[in-house]
Amino acid sequence: MSVALVTGAAGGLGSAIATRLAQDHAVLLTDVDSGKLGDLASKLAADGASVAHAVCDVSDRDSVTAAFDTAEAQLGEVDVLANVAGVGRFVPLADLTDQQWDRTFAVNTRGTFLTCQELLRRRAGRPGAIVNLASIGARLGMDMLADYGPSKAAVIELTHVVSRVGAPTGVRANTVMPGLIWTDMWEKTSEWLLANDPALAGSSAEKIFQGFVESMVPMRRPQTPQDVAEMAAFLLSERAANVTGQTISVDGGVVLT
Ligand SMILES: NC(=O)c1ccc[n+]([C@@H]2O[C@H](COP(=O)([O-])OP(=O)(O)OC[C@H]3O[C@@H](n4cnc5c(N)ncnc54)[C@H](O)[C@@H]3O)[C@@H](O)[C@H]2O)c1
Repeated sequence: MSVALVTGAAGGLGSAIATRLAQDHAVLLTDVDSGKLGDLASKLAADGASVAHAVCDVSDRDSVTAAFDTAEAQLGEVDVLANVAGVGRFVPLADLTDQQWDRTFAVNTRGTFLTCQELLRRRAGRPGAIVNLASIGARLGMDMLADYGPSKAAVIELTHVVSRVGAPTGVRANTVMPGLIWTDMWEKTSEWLLANDPALAGSSAEKIFQGFVESMVPMRRPQTPQDVAEMAAFLLSERAANVTGQTISVDGGVVLT
C-alpha cells in the first residue's frame, strides 16, 4: 500500500488532507502539536484507517529524517508527501523583525526543502508524488505578508525544481495555492486585526474574515479545508499521472495562474 507523510497534520488544512488521503493510503501524521496529532490519529484509526503519528518539526533536518524513519518502520516506505505545515500572521513590512522573517522561512520554506529532499533521496529512482502548499499570499504583494508571501513564492519555485529533478524517475511535484479558509491561522490573524486596528472596534474575528472574503474573492465565498484536500488527493493520485510542476489555486478565483 502506498504510504503518505503529511506535515502540519494537526492543523485545519493538514487534518482535512490527512483524513482524505487516509482513504487511499497508509498515512503518517506529523506536526509539532502532539496533542491534536494523537487525537486525529485515534479518530482515523477508529474509522479503520491505517495511520501512525510522529512529532516532527519540519524546520529541523534530524526531526524530518526521524519522521521518515518512523513511517518506514510502522507503515512502509513513503512514496507520497503532503507539505502542509506552515506559519503566518499579519505584520507590516516596517515592523517585521529579523527573527520573524527567519522563523517564517525556516518553517514554510526550509521545511518544504528538507522533506522534498528526503523523499527524493529515499525514492532513489522510483516514482512518487508531492504536493506543497503555498498560498495566494505568494502573488498579492501584501504589506502585511512581507515574510509569509515571499516564503510561499519560494515554495512555488522549489516545487518547479523538484518536479524537474524528479521527472525522469516519475516523482511528480505540484503546488496548491489555497485561498481564504477559516482555520486557526485566520482566526489568530483576525483577532490580531481586531486588537490592533481601531477602525475595526466593535467587529468580530469572524466578521473581519468575512470582510476579506467579500472584498477579495470573486466567487464571494470562503474556501473549505475539504476543497483543498480534494485537490491535494487528486494531484497525489494516478489520476494526475501526467501533471507535474504546476501551481493550482483553490481560491474562488482570486489569483489567475
Ligand atoms: N488557512 C488559510 O486560509 C490558508 C491559505 C493559504 C495557505 N495556507 C497554508 O496552508 C497550510 C496549513 O495552514 P492552516 O490554515 O491549516 O493553519 P493551521 O495553523 O491550522 O495549521 C498549521 C499547522 O502547522 C503546524 N506547524 C507549525 N510549525 C510547524 C513546524 N515547525 N513543524 C511542523 N508543523 C508545524 C502547526 O502546529 C499547525 O498544526 C499552511 O502552510 C498555510 O500557510 C492556509
